[in-house]
Amino acid sequence: MSTVLPQPAPDAPAPKVPAHVAIIMDGNGRWAQQRNLPRAKGHEKGAESVRVAIKTCKKLGIKFLTVYAFSVENWNRPKPEIEALMTLLKKFLRNEEREFHENKIRLRAIGRLSDLPKSVRRELNHVMQATEHYRDATLVLALSYGGRTEIAHAAQELARKVKAGTLDPDTINEAAISANLYAPDIPDPDLMIRTSGEMRISNFLLWQVSYAELYITDTLWPDFREEHLAKAVEEYGRRHRRFGLVG
Ligand code: FPP
Repeated sequence: MSTVLPQPAPDAPAPKVPAHVAIIMDGNGRWAQQRNLPRAKGHEKGAESVRVAIKTCKKLGIKFLTVYAFSVENWNRPKPEIEALMTLLKKFLRNEEREFHENKIRLRAIGRLSDLPKSVRRELNHVMQATEHYRDATLVLALSYGGRTEIAHAAQELARKVKAGTLDPDTINEAAISANLYAPDIPDPDLMIRTSGEMRISNFLLWQVSYAELYITDTLWPDFREEHLAKAVEEYGRRHRRFGLVG
């Protein structure tokens, strides 16, 4: 069943749509537990929510969607759960490639990608290469991702340049750090959504969310559908972003 998004009045000003939405997809485990199902079933249903979110972003005109699919900390989960997530990821990449082509969606990934099993990396690289010319919309998968790890990585890159004599340490500023993050060409998120009611950032895009609007919903990620994303975007449209300035 497809939901009807709220329509603005004919003379209403164009709604404010975020260019970049980042999502902490939380609550898969609890969703499964509530149904006496294995946690992997929650992740499976969560993968469906990712598909819905991609389609909804396209529909709403959101150019960038970044989802926290696997954190550096998630490697400490039980091995069967890690394996289930990696298998799901491969399946998702294989099944969605056609959808990406049809909708001209570019796939990107951020994180310590070398940590991923070879078979996942192969699938990921294949889809990223096959879609790299699309510019209508971009899906960014955060995989083996940690915000602190990303900032430490940027510091290493800068230190290497200083050591090589190509960078003057006195010129290192915010722009220099941003330029050495995993995806420097992607704008910072305007809106960060977290599902399942937890009030935490959990090491996600720490540098980039400095001025993002936060939206937290009690809905568990596997239940997150078009109307939930539309509601978050609507709420974003009502916020007044001041970026530290006077309103
Ligand atoms: C957090 O829920 C979710 C994850 C650690 C994994 C997110 C993965 C998916 C949504 C599916 C795979 C992704 C793609 C892109 C195919 P949790 O397990 O911590 O939930 P809990 O807090 O209720 O236990």
